[in-house]
Amino acid sequence: MNFRSVRISIILLFAIAGLVFCTPEFKAQQRETDERIPLGLPEDTWKYYVPRNNPMERSKIELGRKLFSDKRLSADGTVSCETCHKEELGFTDGRSVAEGIKGRIGTRNSMSLFNVIFNPSQFWDGRSDTLEEQAIQPLINPLEMGNASHDEVVRRLRSIDEYCRDFQQVFGGEITAVRIGMALAAFERTLLSADSAFDRFFAGDASAISDSARRGFAVFRGRGRCSRCHSFNEQRPFFTDFMYHNTGVAANHPAFETLARSAAAATESDQAKELIDRMAKVDGGQELGRVLSSYLLFDIGAYRTPSLRNLAITSPYFHDGSAKTLADVVRFYNGGGRTNPNLEEELHPLGLTDEEQRDLVTFLESLTDERLRNKQK
Ligand code: HEC
Ligand code: HEC
Repeated sequence: MNFRSVRISIILLFAIAGLVFCTPEFKAQQRETDERIPLGLPEDTWKYYVPRNNPMERSKIELGRKLFSDKRLSADGTVSCETCHKEELGFTDGRSVAEGIKGRIGTRNSMSLFNVIFNPSQFWDGRSDTLEEQAIQPLINPLEMGNASHDEVVRRLRSIDEYCRDFQQVFGGEITAVRIGMALAAFERTLLSADSAFDRFFAGDASAISDSARRGFAVFRGRGRCSRCHSFNEQRPFFTDFMYHNTGVAANHPAFETLARSAAAATESDQAKELIDRMAKVDGGQELGRVLSSYLLFDIGAYRTPSLRNLAITSPYFHDGSAKTLADVVRFYNGGGRTNPNLEEELHPLGLTDEEQRDLVTFLESLTDERLRNKQK
């Protein structure tokens, strides 16, 4: 089954789950598609993770999908969401940092959109609470889709008959920025991924992963201390605690130490918000991470722990794309992260042997969705 048909099937599943009174028509569709939540994700995904104020509906999801890949949403018609979030790359773009309209280079690595339904907040620094709110930010980011305002996008879409009809049908009204966000968010909630060799192993198939991956899993939970932040259990099989930590990646930027010291002083002052908002705009300011939205001292240089699913197809890694390979990532942790004034206390050199490091990489690769792996071939 190819990925598109899986997605279509997932949509049918939404329709089924949302329909408390299962009509014969939906039962027939369910039989036809035989779809399920990917092995490894919570069975109650649709029940608990879809917000009541934006229910999943088939026509809304389809509208979101259309908007997601439409370049007309950008100021000069050259960039769509898909430009930076490509399905075959796990909804990333393969670049260190993103490139928007007119070749404008951003400051951060494009994030995977798989399983965003489970995120309590969005972006590397969590500055957006909901997917609805997040989805309309790239439209007016000058380094991404470059529109001067949301009104500009809305005006452009209102001049396209097809979209006027679509929005009327889905929302019973005209095109608005909020509705664009709702449709995009509904579509994004269908982007589920698990079904990896590791998920089969965890579900009881001892032969699903190699001996090396199994040893790597032991290092991951044991001496590597990785699961301390990339937490994993049956109820929350996401390989992230969804919290913010300073691992020292931000200290890659030459200006970081100086900026971090000023930010630390700023958080102590009465004008913390004002001072930090100003620092966000200077060169390297985005490297301050979570503090840019929390204004709290311990969040300087902290970023959200990313999920580790589908790593085999989402290189390069870290919020600045500074690690090209998983071996680079593991070497970084084996050295205890990068020293800086705010480094998480837990990080210190691990002393893993070369073999243990290789096993850890093999384990990380086993977290890749089999459907995506096949797509790569
Ligand atoms: C120019 C490239 C680019 C474009 C275009 C783009 N994104 Fe992104 N996206 C990124 C980058 C880079 C990040 C991380 C930014 C950050 O954390 O500051 C990101 C983050 C996200 C996240 C957060 C994921 C998470 O786990 O927190 C979502 C959701 C998202 N984008 C959806 C979209 C949607 C929807 C569109 C179209 C409206 C879009 N993106 C357009 C580059 C892009
Ligand atoms: C203290 C919490 C913490 C610990 C312990 C930790 N990580 Fe991370 N991990 C993070 C954070 C936070 C990031 C994002 C850092 C950044 O980009 O600034 C990250 C990023 C990563 C990435 C990059 C993923 C991507 O999509 O870019 C990988 C891979 C990774 N960690 C693997 C590991 C492994 C393997 C271990 C154990 C050796 C480990 N982590 C230990 C918090 C942690």
